Amino acid sequence: MKIIAIINEKGGTGKSTLATNIATAMHRQGKRVVLVDADPQGTARDWRAASPQEADLPAVIAIDRAQNLAKALQSLAADIVVIDAPAKAESMSAAIIKAAHVALVVIQPSAADVWASAAAVRLIQAKRDIGGEIEAAFLVNRASGITTISKTIIDGAWNEYEGIEQLTTTIGNRVVFANAMAAGLSVLDMSDATAKAEISNVIKELESAQWLNH
Ligand SMILES: Nc1ncnc2c1ncn2[C@@H]1O[C@H](COP(=O)(O)OP(=O)(O)OP(=O)(O)O)[C@@H](O)[C@H]1O
Ligand SMILES: [Mg+2]
Repeated sequence: MKIIAIINEKGGTGKSTLATNIATAMHRQGKRVVLVDADPQGTARDWRAASPQEADLPAVIAIDRAQNLAKALQSLAADIVVIDAPAKAESMSAAIIKAAHVALVVIQPSAADVWASAAAVRLIQAKRDIGGEIEAAFLVNRASGITTISKTIIDGAWNEYEGIEQLTTTIGNRVVFANAMAAGLSVLDMSDATAKAEISNVIKELESAQWLNH
């Protein structure tokens, strides 16, 4: 089982949007996928509750107590667990990074998102410092490079962290992501081919880095 955390302590970077889409895309590859809603806000649960009955989507379960996370994850029968992490939740964020094999730190191309991502980076580094293994990368969401700072973030030049790459794939600012979320579906069910390609390219990058191997 591979556990993928979609994380950033900052609110609204697109964690739930990307978690629902990545989990759905992996589910449609035929893997046993569970999407863990670790946010008391319950966005992933609300998303699944909004889904049409016949929709082909991963199961969503809620684990919103840090102290229950590790044990609850162990009991899941899944190939892939995608965790939709909450914002502003120190003990839960720490528990998620502790449990995860892969962390995708979702940032929008703004200075505030980059600053806030330092909290997730610290947790990743702390895990490694005590011999824990975790693969980690930044994933830029709502990429549109108008300002100099946004261009620098999108092209990855800002990132000087050792051992934390930035995915080459970025996710565009596209209405279809909001529409898919509202419909309880993924962008794979919508007609925007670019959005679909972005999600599948994220997965391809994780596969080619061999981060999803058993
Ligand atoms: N790529 C995108 N294009 C357009 N809109 C997006 C995109 N990603 C996210 N959004 C919108 O941004 C808002 C926040 O997204 P989302 O809920 O996924 O963020 P979050 O990081 O999970 O937030 P929270 O920290 O509150 O859990 C939503 O309205 C969502 O529709
Ligand atoms: Mg969320």
